[in-house]
Amino acid sequence: MTNFQVKTYDEYQQAYKRSIEDPEGFWSEIASTFTWRKKWNTTLEWNFEEPNVKWFKGGKLNITENCLDRHLKTRGNKLALIWEPNDPKERFVRYTYRELHEKVCQFANVLKKNGAKKGDRICIYMPMIPELAFAVLACARIGAIHSVVFAGFSAVSMADRINDAQCSMVLTSDGLNRGTKQIPVKRVVDEALESCSSVEKVIVVERLGWAVNMEEGRDVWYHDEVKDVSKDCPAEEMDAEDMLFILYTSGSTGKPKGVVHTCGGYMVYAQYSFSNVFQYEESDIYWCTADIGWITGHTYLLYGPLLSGATTLLFEGVPTYPDMGRFWQVCDKFGVTIFYTAPTAIRSLMGGDIDDVLSYSLDSLKVLGSVGEPINEEAWHWYHTHVGKERCPVVDTWWQTETGGIMISSLANVTPIKPAHAAFPLPGIQPILVDSEGKEITDNEVEGYLCMKFPWPGMIRTTYGDHERCRLSYFSTYKGLYFTGDGAKRDQNGLYRIIGRVDDVINVSGHRFGTAEIEEAINHNVHVIESAVVGYPHDVKGQGIYAFVICKDRPENDEWLRAEIIETVVEKIGKIAKPDKIQIVSGLPKTRSGKIMRRILRKVAEGDVSNLGDTSTLLDPAVVDEIVEGSLSKAKV
Ligand code: WT7
Repeated sequence: MTNFQVKTYDEYQQAYKRSIEDPEGFWSEIASTFTWRKKWNTTLEWNFEEPNVKWFKGGKLNITENCLDRHLKTRGNKLALIWEPNDPKERFVRYTYRELHEKVCQFANVLKKNGAKKGDRICIYMPMIPELAFAVLACARIGAIHSVVFAGFSAVSMADRINDAQCSMVLTSDGLNRGTKQIPVKRVVDEALESCSSVEKVIVVERLGWAVNMEEGRDVWYHDEVKDVSKDCPAEEMDAEDMLFILYTSGSTGKPKGVVHTCGGYMVYAQYSFSNVFQYEESDIYWCTADIGWITGHTYLLYGPLLSGATTLLFEGVPTYPDMGRFWQVCDKFGVTIFYTAPTAIRSLMGGDIDDVLSYSLDSLKVLGSVGEPINEEAWHWYHTHVGKERCPVVDTWWQTETGGIMISSLANVTPIKPAHAAFPLPGIQPILVDSEGKEITDNEVEGYLCMKFPWPGMIRTTYGDHERCRLSYFSTYKGLYFTGDGAKRDQNGLYRIIGRVDDVINVSGHRFGTAEIEEAINHNVHVIESAVVGYPHDVKGQGIYAFVICKDRPENDEWLRAEIIETVVEKIGKIAKPDKIQIVSGLPKTRSGKIMRRILRKVAEGDVSNLGDTSTLLDPAVVDEIVEGSLSKAKV
């Protein structure tokens, strides 16, 4: 499936030019390489005002027929999925395309048997086990809309997401393995479901063999249900613009948004971008280390590779277990050729013993990728030198949950690479930089707000249940443009360098959190009156979470209070949003109109207090002195 893969810089330039001059012709030729039950009538219909974006209108398809069925003839016995468990001593499992097809059909039949139908929303809260992949594809097979919630989120977060989408079913497991820990996943689901009335069925996959609470009439074991179902399940016919999935992500307000992707456009963009960025070849063994709970796992662990007929690796564990060499051991074990991970993982491994990398051959590797946040030059060079042995290109891929697939990235061995730069847009992608008035900046060697001026097939269609929120979040800041929320630079050769978020979103280990969301969680703590959260540079995580908190009665010992606050955040959001630093303060720097001046807090959090700028407009400038003093003393964790 290497159609429309550009192989030289010249071909890239030609494809890019064509994609701008005739976007519809460009994308409809690519779309024609897929299996459609019925061809579309209109390639593109769009405006960014409402917004209304429709690709391949009238086209009928099922994405799983494209991921599975169409490969059976030529790739039936080829490996589709390799599963490597958390414990290296446990046996790995492999599935050919034929076997994966069967597993997905069986799972789909279990869903149907339990009442699931086209259009239903199904929440998936599962560890990285093969059944997670089966479950996602099974939903797509029957036309149910999957909403995968990363298994590190708390019961409260899960409940919010289930209620927002009114899910009728939850797919989960008894527990999960993560390094040396075992986590009772089903217990978290039970807690969440206390406040979710829409859920009628829970299907539980056995992973740990733990005895768990099974609610009569609601909960069933997957292994019981699957016993007598057929290994075949005809795929539901979907419209190109029917919803494929919802994936929640943070914005600058407290409540996560349900980003909606649709069947046809997402499929075309996932496959095209996968094939071109990584320069995928038929014999590759491809490994994306992201969890399926994030968009990277959706597009580049599952859909993109399977649409391309690739062999994709699913890893249950963590990079540091049983030791810091695990990633490299797994690469050698399976002969991984393309490896895609996050800068935070690279930075955490850089801190280990260099022999943890050097003791593996890594001979099979050809292409390395990075995603989730800007990769700093030091990490880029370490990755390039020690993992890639200066032989493998490192592609820095910029994109978002909302974009569905990679937008700006070098194409491995095809387009120029510059450390810490995402470089050029993919064919079909039209990024622009604008100034604060929304005016396009056309020169090079400039900096501005990163926007898109033309639709692409993989883009967000709406935010679930609230289209206006989609318009306000992405299409209202700059008229007629999709605004990414990122700032970026363009160098003299036109290469993009992403600087980071310009809104109140922070990126912790490649995961997005709205500062408002964390503040809301902190404020739930009974001792807390008010809080303000900002990001600050963190050696491993990229950004750390720094919380300034006003408390009611400040006890003698702040440690206890901090532990309490952390516990509240873990309960409301999950461990992944734990503040790294908490400073108890008696006031926050506010303007006369009551707005918190985050600029000042950010400087304090960065440890740069020499020049805090103009503080004269503050209601109480003295509060700044106290905060600065507190930040330098032991008043924080
Ligand atoms: C935000 C999107 C896309 C998959 C993972 C994150 C930042 C992402 C890069 C990169 C610089 C990056 C941006 C973006 N980001 N990739 N290669 N270089 N920044 O998805 O949770 O939707 O977050 O992550 O700030 O807006 P997400």
